[in-house]
Amino acid sequence: MRVGIDFGTSNTSVAILTEKGPELIELEPGLTSIPTAIFYESGSRDFEIGSTAIKTYEAGEDGRLMRSIKSVLGSELIDETTQLGSRAIPFRQVIQDFLKALLLRVEQQTGQKITSVIQGRPVSFNDTDPERDANAQRVLGECLSANGVTDISFLAEPIAAARTMGGKASGDRIVFIADIGGGTSDFCAVRLSGDGEGFHVLGSSGVYVGGNDFDRVLSFFEITPSFGRTETLELNNLPAPTANYVLLSDWKRHNLLYSPLVKKEIAWMRKYSPNSPGIRAFDYLVENFEAGIYAQKTEAAKIELSQRAQCAFHYKIPGADLRKEIERGAFEDLIAEALISMSSAAQTCLTEAGLAPEQVTDIVMVGGSTFVPAVENLFLSQFPKAEISRNDRFGAVAKGLALHQH
Ligand SMILES: Nc1ncnc2c1ncn2[C@@H]1O[C@H](COP(=O)(O)OP(=O)(O)OP(=O)(O)O)[C@@H](O)[C@H]1O
Ligand SMILES: [Mg+2]
Repeated sequence: MRVGIDFGTSNTSVAILTEKGPELIELEPGLTSIPTAIFYESGSRDFEIGSTAIKTYEAGEDGRLMRSIKSVLGSELIDETTQLGSRAIPFRQVIQDFLKALLLRVEQQTGQKITSVIQGRPVSFNDTDPERDANAQRVLGECLSANGVTDISFLAEPIAAARTMGGKASGDRIVFIADIGGGTSDFCAVRLSGDGEGFHVLGSSGVYVGGNDFDRVLSFFEITPSFGRTETLELNNLPAPTANYVLLSDWKRHNLLYSPLVKKEIAWMRKYSPNSPGIRAFDYLVENFEAGIYAQKTEAAKIELSQRAQCAFHYKIPGADLRKEIERGAFEDLIAEALISMSSAAQTCLTEAGLAPEQVTDIVMVGGSTFVPAVENLFLSQFPKAEISRNDRFGAVAKGLALHQH
């Protein structure tokens, strides 16, 4: 049978086409969108995916949690290996393993073998190097083939999301899709004819900026000072080295934090600043492999700021309780640069489509990062006349993939 797979940087969904239209598959009890996360147990070949992977990691099980594995596809890391305890595992194997467990779930749910896949892809896996972009798609295809999928086609994620608008249009519409996810911001403009039949892609564009970048700047500028980043070491008057805080703020590089060299450096910081609770907490975090928990708390703080003007980041270690209040305004200042990149990519799409913003009749918000009020406002102000649709931010891409005929 045939399925559409939205393999997102943060979350993954799968949909099939039924008589009633596209339907999302329940990938875990009650969940049609699961975290793109994989947890390898140490000392065995066993692994888990989705929220089970995160729960196992949080329960303190020995092993390694990996997230944002999609971003590796378009980078030089895709041909490299990553260390899991004593063994080195190729990154492409990690993606293949994730897809294997995902396909198994779908097969259990549908009772059918999956042989045909319409695979979503960002408009660009790498916005500066077309060769890496092509390689990323090839590797993703190979990972599916290795799991027994014989018929694979690819479709850009925002174009897939636009497919779900088909039946809803009344009269001719110009629809602009803004898909702001965890790893990328993708745009496309389509013309839909009133009969629901005509579907013309006018333009598309993408940029490697998304919610993960929001987490990264929030962590580095607002939260790491609580862990000693801006301190001067008490006994030698040297500034705390910043490189390790850069690692802490980036999911993809967390494994480097646990290297002997970093541990040695943190021990050195502790020695020369024995009274700093922040440096003690940083040491505790690294010693207890809690960078993943730190990142989740950072993301949760960001998500809270979509609802409230202020939030608090909390990290408790034996004998110390770190707490940092964060204002929405401070967060918005930090993401201003990312918003400029998004806005300019959106403009590239309009230019390619030959459209003026006033011609856009509908704007569809897709992807979790469109919940950030500053992101939503950015597009509201760019398209003053457009009607906004924002009711299927996590499911539209997978459903549109299932709808696509090739
Ligand atoms: N309420 C919220 N406020 C702010 N950000 C949110 C909210 N909910 C989810 N996010 C963010 O949205 C991102 C995930 O969105 P989504 O699931 O659409 O991405 P994805 O499809 O996995 O990624 P991509 O399409 O870039 O590969 C994460 O960065 C997450 O922190
Ligand atoms: Mg997405």
